[in-house]
Amino acid sequence: MHHFTYKDGRLHCEDVDLNRIADEVGTPCYVYSSATLVRHAGVIASAFEGQDCLIAFSVKSNGNIGVLSTLAREGCGADVVSGGELQRALKAGIPASKIVFSGVGKTAEEMRLALQAGIHQFNVESAGELRRLSEVATMNNLEAPIAIRVNPDVAAGGHPNISTGKKGDKFGVPWSDAEPLYAEAASLPGIRVVGVDVHIGSQIGDLVPMRAAFEKVIGLTRRLREAGHDIQRLDLGGGLGIPYKAGDDPAPPSAYAAMIAEVTAGMGLQVILEPGRVISGNAGVMLSTVLYEKQAPDTNFLIIDAGMNDLIRPALYDAHHDILPLDESGADADRKTYDVVGPICESTDKFAKSRDLSALQPGQRIAFMSAGAYGAVLSSAYNARPLVPEVLVNGASFDIIRRRPDFEEMIALEKVPDWLTPTA
Ligand code: LLP
Repeated sequence: MHHFTYKDGRLHCEDVDLNRIADEVGTPCYVYSSATLVRHAGVIASAFEGQDCLIAFSVKSNGNIGVLSTLAREGCGADVVSGGELQRALKAGIPASKIVFSGVGKTAEEMRLALQAGIHQFNVESAGELRRLSEVATMNNLEAPIAIRVNPDVAAGGHPNISTGKKGDKFGVPWSDAEPLYAEAASLPGIRVVGVDVHIGSQIGDLVPMRAAFEKVIGLTRRLREAGHDIQRLDLGGGLGIPYKAGDDPAPPSAYAAMIAEVTAGMGLQVILEPGRVISGNAGVMLSTVLYEKQAPDTNFLIIDAGMNDLIRPALYDAHHDILPLDESGADADRKTYDVVGPICESTDKFAKSRDLSALQPGQRIAFMSAGAYGAVLSSAYNARPLVPEVLVNGASFDIIRRRPDFEEMIALEKVPDWLTPTA
């Protein structure tokens, strides 16, 4: 459930008319709903009530400090995959003791930063990384609590670009290498084995592959304990899917939590979750303005002021985002079939193909729904377009939580090389 609804024919985020935000901030821009973020975090927390559980919001899905601060207040921890995300989480007030560090390519500098901050856990993804972490920890007289991310060789379904738990994916340690690597971890200075980690993909609506992966990991946990490892935690990653359109019916958090309770029963483990999309996805929209309509022989193009640089999911994953007009169209409004495209000079700059929408005129505004996860975080300044701004709504008020840079700011980090700069 989210808080984007029509009131008197105008699309609102909570109690704020989205047209008002579009007027004041300009389009394209992202708008997030605090009430929705809080609600989603609460739904997950209550589904896991009674289980020893850390909810580490996956910062990669939406790393805005305003969003992270909202979730920090709800007691969320963070799953980070870079030194930058770690600093964002800390800055937003998420305690280091609730932060886990995932990702296949941590640098020594990022490890040092995380060790000095005192994070909850490193999710280690290779032998090389484990050895490097041992060196960095010993050099700094610190100890790294680790889980090894294992690759359970389970296909999660969904788009191939977001599946991570199959043999051949770059993620995790191959299943047959896991136990030898735990043995090595136990012998390395500066390393303290605390858990096992798995994450099989994203936008997973079906609990069957998740259960299969988690059961495999429980088997591994038992064997590791028998071998003398003190496994106290199980990090089950993120990946729970959300509805993007009518008819989508992903497993709800309650069923996910019940499945996890069943699989981990009697093990005495702290469960760590890394939900991203299920918290942030339906908590955000991207607003855009229609620029032109262009009739081609077989296609009716609707050209809008947002591009794939602002929201890349359709271009990258064939992702569907519902498109709603900010001014509600009546039941008897004309309808048209559009290819909705942006201004970027790339053929993949297409948000929707043959989409049936109420007829739209230049100047009218639209909202791309379910854009709170992997939206603004994946935006770029391609075609020298300013990075898209972000707005957070809270009841009847809103604040700009990232403003649009002006041209001077966009080029502030660049310079003309010295040899082209005439000296006096
Ligand atoms: N943990 C790890 C280790 C991950 O790699 C991810 C997502 C998550 C947690 C959070 O997954 P979530 O709960 O959000 O599904 N850009 C793609 C999705 C990429 C997901 C990457 N990893 C998209 O827009 O669909």
